[in-house]
Amino acid sequence: MTQQTSLMDRFGRHVDYVRISVTDRCDLRCIYCMSEDIRFVPRSQLLTLEEIVRIGRAFVALGVTKIRITGGEPLTRKNVVKVFDQLGRVSGLKELTLTTNGTQLPRYAGALRDAGVKRINISIDSLQPDRFHAITRNGDIDKTLAGIDAAIAAGFERIKLNAVILKNRNHDEVLDLVGFAIEKRLDISFIEEMPLGIIGDHDRAEAYYSSDRILSDLREHYEIVPTTETTGGPSRYFRIAGQPTRVGFISPHSHNFCDLCNRVRLTAEGRLLLCLGQEHSVDLRRVVRANPTDDRPLRDAIVAAMQLKPKGHDFNLEAQPVIFRHMNTTGG
Ligand code: GTP
Ligand code: 5AD
Ligand code: SF4
Repeated sequence: MTQQTSLMDRFGRHVDYVRISVTDRCDLRCIYCMSEDIRFVPRSQLLTLEEIVRIGRAFVALGVTKIRITGGEPLTRKNVVKVFDQLGRVSGLKELTLTTNGTQLPRYAGALRDAGVKRINISIDSLQPDRFHAITRNGDIDKTLAGIDAAIAAGFERIKLNAVILKNRNHDEVLDLVGFAIEKRLDISFIEEMPLGIIGDHDRAEAYYSSDRILSDLREHYEIVPTTETTGGPSRYFRIAGQPTRVGFISPHSHNFCDLCNRVRLTAEGRLLLCLGQEHSVDLRRVVRANPTDDRPLRDAIVAAMQLKPKGHDFNLEAQPVIFRHMNTTGG
């Protein structure tokens, strides 16, 4: 029997991108991501690093070419560099990337680069120390800035900043954030907040600040040129005339991108989530533990899971969240 080497869902979408969360823990407590009294998954329930690599390999055998490591904060997982080292050597994997809050990069940037990571995304929602502290509930902006500088020094091919924009919290900083990205020669994406989990801090509908408003704020100061560039992700990219910086918009509310969805997610407990905004999932931890030496059942479970991938999310900022999972469980 020939082995299947590509993943396709019921809607004809090819899945060639997997986002793997290696921990739900984080050293920050961003107000849009977590509630203040969040409880983390007991460590005993997490996939081991070996299991993460094994599942990553199975995806690559099924045609996946891009893996992004996420969290929580992935760099807080002990010995996580092993995952990068081992996945970085899997033939067929074209891109291994990371999304991080940057605080641990002074320690890890060089090792990640050596493992073959070419692009990384770093979250920073404010450049003002007090605000940064308020948005992250405990963060020290100097640590994130040092992380950004460490990433630049390590020589990644591309570094993208991520900023979740909330009305009356940081919407007035979009120009400063773009100015910072230009000064450092980095890309930047602005993200609309998604209603994942109960956060307690603010009303998400009231805090909504659309990508289109950000774009028009930026247009008052910059000549912004649309592009057709893509990273295989949901960002719509623009260029600033005369600058290397690209400005992306991730707009699940105002510009739904579900039709082009090419990804699935693995939680730190080994649950394969077929959509960020729905609960459809398959327990891959059970499959790997029941079959310690044979990967075929794992690959079969992944292939079968594609039939569960839903058409899209039903995010509604006006209603109570229907997804109780917080973003730190999946890393976005
Ligand atoms: P690339 O996929 O490599 O372009 O990076 P990215 O910008 O998508 O990844 P990153 O981890 O930096 O995520 C940035 C934001 O995009 C986060 O808020 C994610 O939740 C969001 N995002 C990524 N993929 C999806 C998706 O499939 N659906 C939705 N709704 N949001 C997504
Ligand atoms: N909505 C949108 N983006 C979020 N992030 C975390 N929680 C949310 C949310 N509820 C962002 C982080 C990081 C990326 C992985 O997801 O700021 O940049
Ligand atoms: Fe894909 Fe779901 Fe994201 Fe839509 S919300 S783009 S279907 S993962």
